[in-house]
Amino acid sequence: MDEQKERFCRELISVAREAALKTYSPYSDFPVGAAVLTGDGSLYTGCNIENRSFNVSICAERTAFAKAISEGARQFKTVAVYSPRGGDCWPCGLCRQFMSEFGDQVEIIVEAKDGSLICRKLAEILPEHPQAPEKSLIKNA
Ligand code: THU
Repeated sequence: MDEQKERFCRELISVAREAALKTYSPYSDFPVGAAVLTGDGSLYTGCNIENRSFNVSICAERTAFAKAISEGARQFKTVAVYSPRGGDCWPCGLCRQFMSEFGDQVEIIVEAKDGSLICRKLAEILPEHPQAPEKSLIKNA
């Protein structure tokens, strides 16, 4: 990762860190924040929102995606995920599947335990996922 990319990724991680402050996670006590950069350069944030009926909870990534999609975004460039509880906060399987609807080339950035950054394409962490059905509105996904 070159210096410019490193700076950009660190900035996005710090936006995700800020977003984690808004968490509603009384059950897991595991705050997570996400920062999503869309195709037109807009930035959306999200945090995890838990519920007393546990399976109703939503992860930070899907919160941020839902905010972006509901504002009209359909293309996604980069997603940074951060938890103050520790490094390597990779998106769960459900979020990987959810994000893949909008293309598998989006870059996922997490901070490793030693403070270094890890950057992976969604396609790398969700290989051989279902191809877009005919009715999908996202033609390149
Ligand atoms: N969580 C996220 O929001 N994103 C992730 O990438 C990993 C897990 C949330 C779900 C739940 O509220 C809490 O973290 C503990 O799993």
